Amino acid sequence: MACETPLTQMNANLLSLRDLSVHFAHRGGQTTVVDRVSLDLAAGQVLGIVGESGSGKSQLLFSLMGLLAGNGRASGRALFEGVDLLSLPPKALDRLRGASLSMIFQDPMTSLNPYTRIGDQLAEGLIHHQAVPRAQALAEAVRMLDRVRIPDAARAARRYPHEFSGGMRQRVMIAMALLVKPKLLLADEPTTALDVTIQAQVLDLMSEIASETGTAILFVTHDLGVVARICDRVAVLYGGRIMEDGPAETMLTSPAHPYARGLLATTPRMDDALTPRLPTIAGTPRSGGAMLPSCPFAPRCGARLPACDTMPPLRPFGPERRLACHLQGET
Ligand SMILES: Nc1ncnc2c1ncn2[C@@H]1O[C@H](COP(=O)(O)OP(=O)(O)OP(=O)(O)O)[C@@H](O)[C@H]1O
Ligand SMILES: [Mg+2]
Repeated sequence: MACETPLTQMNANLLSLRDLSVHFAHRGGQTTVVDRVSLDLAAGQVLGIVGESGSGKSQLLFSLMGLLAGNGRASGRALFEGVDLLSLPPKALDRLRGASLSMIFQDPMTSLNPYTRIGDQLAEGLIHHQAVPRAQALAEAVRMLDRVRIPDAARAARRYPHEFSGGMRQRVMIAMALLVKPKLLLADEPTTALDVTIQAQVLDLMSEIASETGTAILFVTHDLGVVARICDRVAVLYGGRIMEDGPAETMLTSPAHPYARGLLATTPRMDDALTPRLPTIAGTPRSGGAMLPSCPFAPRCGARLPACDTMPPLRPFGPERRLACHLQGET
């Protein structure tokens, strides 16, 4: 199927998603949880993905890493430096993972080996993927632990994951992902367990490293303060579809989609690390149902029109913005 919104500069981008969908098979048929997402991400750019629980954020990232559950299937294209991640043989994808493509998982324990010292786990990526000598890899691991504010990093490197608090494990995961200097980092709510001050420091570090190394970040978050602090652009996901996307500052100050407006009702200031989490929007969040022909937000939308029985396409809406709403142009 042709893309709804052909984006320009396809070749300038590190990552280009085209009609990326994720489907899960079940006894009665299949459910689509990510629905024809098209996005571009350039080197060094940080793209935030926001949306309520169940909107498909994690599955979107998993599909890029080839980590969907057994009943899951991705369709469309996910071009990483021009190579489609969705059709790469497992071995080739494995070579990319941990080297130029790395992910920080929502639950840090799922990707830390409980029986291996933290320092060894971090060093492993450098030794395995970049042939860095062991002693040097360990020294770099300690330096990175220090940069994510793990106290007494040299000693901490000799500890096991269970000896760390949840927030520290999250920082270890961030250190692990940044250490290999990936070209693309998929970060799934990486700073949720951190207190505000540490969170701000770690976000600044991630920004710093992104601009130092040209790492691009797909940053999934519920937290609008995080968006304000680190993201260049933001895409708002609802029921697996992009409802609106654009530059972070514009999206935070003048969202156009009724869902995005509800979501961003309490506008954070760009310099404010203490912004609120997503406010509650009336109605039940939609997720995982059979795909409706209508706009998935229509049942909860205060501005619903008769036209909303059909899904509006995602269309350009001012400079560098796109919007999927029949109210487009009337708002
Ligand atoms: N193996 C599976 N089979 C069927 N449905 C699944 C499977 N795994 C996930 N889903 C469904 O996919 C939908 C999207 O899930 P996803 O984990 O991407 O949400 P999310 O946006 O990351 O939410 P949260 O903010 O809570 O992390 C949910 O409805 C979930 O139930
Ligand atoms: Mg998730």
